[in-house]
Amino acid sequence: MNDNLIEELITIAGEDWVIQDLEKIEGYLHDETPEPASPEATEDVVVVKPEDSEEISAVMKLANERGVKVVPRGAGTGLCGAAIPTEPSIVLSLERLSEIIDLDEDNLMVTCEAGVTLESLFEEIDETDHLFFPPHPGDEGAQVGGLVVENAGGARAVKYGVMRNYVKGMKVVLPSGERLALGGKILKNNTGYDLMHLLMGSEGTLGIITEVTLRLYPEANETATLLVPFEDRGSAMSAVPRVLMEGHVPLALEYVERELIEESAAHLGKSWPAEEGEAFLILIITGKDEEEIFDKSETMVGVLEENGALEPLFAQRRKEQESILDIRSNIYTALEEETTDILDVTVPPAEVGNLIDRIEDLGEEYETEIPVYGHAADGNVHPHIMKVDGKAPDYFEELKEEIYQIALDMGGVITGEHGVGETRLKNLPMALSEEERKLMQGIKEAFDPNNVLNPNRAIG
Ligand code: LAC
Ligand code: ZN
Repeated sequence: MNDNLIEELITIAGEDWVIQDLEKIEGYLHDETPEPASPEATEDVVVVKPEDSEEISAVMKLANERGVKVVPRGAGTGLCGAAIPTEPSIVLSLERLSEIIDLDEDNLMVTCEAGVTLESLFEEIDETDHLFFPPHPGDEGAQVGGLVVENAGGARAVKYGVMRNYVKGMKVVLPSGERLALGGKILKNNTGYDLMHLLMGSEGTLGIITEVTLRLYPEANETATLLVPFEDRGSAMSAVPRVLMEGHVPLALEYVERELIEESAAHLGKSWPAEEGEAFLILIITGKDEEEIFDKSETMVGVLEENGALEPLFAQRRKEQESILDIRSNIYTALEEETTDILDVTVPPAEVGNLIDRIEDLGEEYETEIPVYGHAADGNVHPHIMKVDGKAPDYFEELKEEIYQIALDMGGVITGEHGVGETRLKNLPMALSEEERKLMQGIKEAFDPNNVLNPNRAIG
């Protein structure tokens, strides 16, 4: 990086917050994308850690003047390489914007800076004892700004929807350095185009979010986790729509299979509590008190048993529930080292069983195991393409495209959760029409005419 540029960055952010030392910037060159699928980062990077939107604005103005690329970065928990710099860049970390500004109980809203982690957000909201932030997209180290620009999903989307459903206001630094305040503590807003929704899911290509106002909900006092075994995938899957139709939408409805979930349990030094069954649904049930939980569980167990469930396990103690979820949440961690790429195809929910069957057939054709698990009621699953001899197999791209094509033919999408980032750019032409891509490129140009902010991500 040019010395003069570094000096200007130091003038903006201060010497302590401009970092070039390779050892210190190493952690800013990766995300959680498995190594073989992940793009290769350049080392020609300077990391800047601004304190506020004013400094971010100054960095963006400088970047435009100099034609230098800027890659905004949260906690790096993403799975599509969206925050990995592949060309000489300023990596702009939001980590110092870590303040929770206002927890407004009367309006059921919280306003926080973009670098607040999900964990500290949960902690703060927990202190109210009666409010609740529903989305839980996995890694609690993730930062709010990242969750918004990736429109993160997770296991609780079945009842409450994805991040997009919670963002009511935001402050943004545009690629030009101009600053905008969008939305606010308001639940309805039909004033012109919704720019805020464009920013959500934009993967840091349209602006840098510095502050977010999120909607909260009253907390359900009680939860219970039902671990429901089935003999096979077919019966587990056909039970899902029956449960949803019955009326008590669970907080989460996850699908896992024995071999995989036991591997994850072993990875954590735990054991999977269900002795029988090969395929499992995990349901989290919420209610205002124990009685409501018992009532709901009884109805659900009735529906599940009518649809082939074996004896369900009912977990009510917090520890027991957390352990089941922990094992589910760590499947990716357990498989990561052996994984070439983790996909997140999403189909109409009733098709999800067929989707997994078709993927299993592909596994036989390619003579490989393709572990699949995921958010059953959202139609969103995670097939893993595994390494062969410690590296990406020759058929990786071809197999990935075949899985994508199956999802598309079912009326689904190639990514429902982890985003396009860098790793799925080459697959966009199969998923989006020429017209859609042109419109997206036009939007990018309107926001970022000099193409300085996170170029070549999200829209191709
Ligand atoms: C999960 C992450 C990988 O569902 O999306 O476990
Ligand atoms: Zn997921």
